[in-house]
Amino acid sequence: MTETAQRTETASHPESPTGHVEGMNFYTRKWVRPEDLNANGSLFGGSLLRWIDEEAAIYAIIQLGNHRVVTKLISEINFQASARKGDLIEMGLIATHFGRTSLTMTARVRNMITRKSILTIEKIVFVGVDEDGTPIPHGYSTITYDRDRMPRPHAEPLPEKLPETRKGCAEASLRSTRRQPPR
Ligand SMILES: CC(C)(COP(=O)(O)OP(=O)(O)OC[C@H]1O[C@@H](n2cnc3c(N)ncnc32)[C@H](O)[C@@H]1OP(=O)(O)O)[C@@H](O)C(=O)NCCC(=O)NCCS
Repeated sequence: MTETAQRTETASHPESPTGHVEGMNFYTRKWVRPEDLNANGSLFGGSLLRWIDEEAAIYAIIQLGNHRVVTKLISEINFQASARKGDLIEMGLIATHFGRTSLTMTARVRNMITRKSILTIEKIVFVGVDEDGTPIPHGYSTITYDRDRMPRPHAEPLPEKLPETRKGCAEASLRSTRRQPPR
């Protein structure tokens, strides 16, 4: 089975010959800088994978409405072309399967100007977990293009009854906010 046929079959989103996957948004763009390069002077694969993993985590947080998500699996990674210093690249992700606790997505990276494909990953799986790292059901089955599932803000409100130790610093910070205007 040719790669194109296989790709069309596995993706639930039609893909054009230029590698564009229907419904995929390229939200994240990167400017390839010297610190992102390998010894050959092209973009280091590890840098690109770190950007993809972070982008996929943000996508999973938005889709699953849970800020505790972990990378479970990244399938074969096809580096199709190099990026050079100064290139502008963009990354796209789209969900291909909502499980009970997991989210599967596919990723594309391309040159922002030429649209030439740089990398494809068919399957990235993230899992939503609780504070103990145990997988928890997310209850979703469709993609949101909105921010309607965003989890509660990170900063937990200060507990009513502060433990003694923290009482000092909380009151100090409260005092600083209430400091009197200079006479
Ligand atoms: C992710 C993790 C919590 C899953 O634990 P687990 O014991 O495998 O849990 P489960 O067997 O219940 O699987 C959880 C989900 O992962 C999916 N999953 C497990 N193994 C998988 C695999 N090899 N491929 C695809 N999906 C897989 C399961 O299908 C399940 O999804 P579903 O609930 O939607 O059906 C655990 O493997 C883990 O902590 N891994 C390390 C995560 C990590 O630190 N990543 C790097 C830093 S973010």
